[in-house]
Amino acid sequence: MIQIKNLRKEYGNRTVLNNVSLSIEKGEIFGLLGPNGAGKTTLIRILTMLASHSGGAITINNLQLPEEARKIKSLLGCVPQHLNLDGELTAWENLELHGRLHHIPMQERRQRIDELLEYVELSDRAADMASTFSGGMKRRLMIARALMHRPKILFLDEPTVGLDPQVRRRLWDLILSLNHQGLTVLLTTHYIEEAEALCQRVAILEKGKLVITGTPADLRCKVGQYAVEWTESDGIKFRFFTVRAEAVTFMNSLDTSTTLRNTNLEDVFVELTGRKVRE
Ligand SMILES: Nc1ncnc2c1ncn2[C@@H]1O[C@H](COP(=O)(O)OP(=O)(O)O)[C@@H](O)[C@H]1O
Ligand SMILES: [Mg+2]
Repeated sequence: MIQIKNLRKEYGNRTVLNNVSLSIEKGEIFGLLGPNGAGKTTLIRILTMLASHSGGAITINNLQLPEEARKIKSLLGCVPQHLNLDGELTAWENLELHGRLHHIPMQERRQRIDELLEYVELSDRAADMASTFSGGMKRRLMIARALMHRPKILFLDEPTVGLDPQVRRRLWDLILSLNHQGLTVLLTTHYIEEAEALCQRVAILEKGKLVITGTPADLRCKVGQYAVEWTESDGIKFRFFTVRAEAVTFMNSLDTSTTLRNTNLEDVFVELTGRKVRE
């Protein structure tokens, strides 16, 4: 669905994306994982044509970007990192405005608004101003807005940042349900558990470079399936194992209390970059 080849982005003399090559398949939820400043938003902005790229090639649904920008635009829906609803408008009016901008005929537009408000569970708040909404409700309204023109690919830039765990889970369910209906999703996150809960494949981005791409399970296998953790005076130590019995033997060889756990994407990130995703 999306093919990115040797993508580069420079701001002045700073390289923000450094030869990124990536493909996103139709129907998957693909996660771009990386710490703040890695270049995730820049990549989304380039794919949604809010920023230009300095080098490389991008095709979306076999259309060249930026040459076929108009055709591509109708395929994309985007929920940006920062809340950008019109707080002075009601939920309904926010969607109506988007529908008009996309030249959706009135009858279809109004039907779509009702459908989507129902879908994101905001029907009863349709007439309330967006500024009165909680963080989770605003995100859901932004998702509804991004879906108004029936895009084939949805971009979600840090969709659950700043939300409490319960609200986050509700949004995860919404994203999964959209994907089950056939929508291809590209999301960025610096929450490991979000990438693991939602994404069929992830790419780890650090300082503008792709470190690794694969399914969460494949990535975890790179470091080994098991982690043994123990505490020393200068902090938490861990070691990774592919075979459980070897992990247990190692635990028994230490004369301190240890924990055996499954490895996660944070371990992969630390192992590959020497840094943590959330610092
Ligand atoms: N418009 C811009 N002008 C100059 N530098 C920018 C601009 N936008 C982003 N950057 C820089 O690009 C890098 C990547 O930023 P960003 O894509 O927002 O990262 P992320 O979304 O992963 O946190 C950062 O170092 C940021 O300061
Ligand atoms: Mg960002």
